[in-house]
Amino acid sequence: MSKIDTIYNYLYEIAKKFKLTEQELPAEAVAREAMHKAILARFFDPAVGKVYGLDLAQKKELVEQFKTITTKVQTATHWIYYVAMATVVFNIPKSQKGDLIECGCWKGGSTAILSLVASKVKRKLYVADSFEGIPPDDDKKGHFYTHLSVLGYYEKGMYDGTLTEVKKNIKEHGNIKACQFIKGFYKDSLKKFNKPLVFAFLDVDLRSSLEDSVKYIWPNLLDNSLIYTDDSCDMDVVKFWFDEDWWQKTLKIKAPGYVGSGCGLPINPDFSSLGYARKIADPGRIFKREDWFHGKEIK
Ligand SMILES: C[S@@+](CC[C@H](N)C(=O)[O-])C[C@H]1O[C@@H](n2cnc3c(N)ncnc32)[C@H](O)[C@@H]1O
Repeated sequence: MSKIDTIYNYLYEIAKKFKLTEQELPAEAVAREAMHKAILARFFDPAVGKVYGLDLAQKKELVEQFKTITTKVQTATHWIYYVAMATVVFNIPKSQKGDLIECGCWKGGSTAILSLVASKVKRKLYVADSFEGIPPDDDKKGHFYTHLSVLGYYEKGMYDGTLTEVKKNIKEHGNIKACQFIKGFYKDSLKKFNKPLVFAFLDVDLRSSLEDSVKYIWPNLLDNSLIYTDDSCDMDVVKFWFDEDWWQKTLKIKAPGYVGSGCGLPINPDFSSLGYARKIADPGRIFKREDWFHGKEIK
């Protein structure tokens, strides 16, 4: 969880303790709480997960587990992100055969959560990581988080978690039976990956790591599936999703773009680091026509 998230959570808890009125509460904390409630409401909609036999009690229990895991295991992401992603996974039609993949698990907190999500839909979670932290960053100019006015640098080995450490955390908090581990740097470890995928979560920090993982994941992803990433604020990293040259040269398709570029999906009032790309091979099959966008197709 980011420091800013933690501060807002504290603010909200303190405000509640002192029984402050809605007007007296810090506006940011109230807005954050309201947005999180909206995301939870979408998740608790009875239609979400119905085909997998999931009811409200099971979904509430899952949310409590997500919260607990992010406090027990050192994690770089907020629990509400997983509610948003679990909503997507539980909405995948049962008839679509395929598994989930996570690239970038650090100590295994995110993995433990995703393993619980995967087990609820009876799909496998592939867990791909070097288990020795990030590789060297060739982007020497640093990383610009334009919306947050932040400039940062990565170091080789940052976010290291050993396979033993990760497995221990998943055993304690998640569902290890749902996981299949792929150890190594993506440029080698994912080269032979060849399994149908319905969802991916990538939290890999570097543009080079994104290129190395997407190159092998994308061809395995079913049409209309989503790749979520936790790197939406880093301008150089999100540019990847719009880089026509890379997509044409590597995968021979149009760049898919990225929803949430620069400041993330609307999960918090200020920013979130979550965003997604969608694989769309056949838009006519995936999207619906609307009256307000009624122009005729030119053949
Ligand atoms: C920010 S951490 C992931 C945080 C985690 N998702 C969480 O929420 O706690 C980044 C992870 O990506 C992995 N990683 C980055 N680039 C990689 C690469 N090219 N090959 C393998 N692992 C990589 C690192 O080892 C690290 O575990």
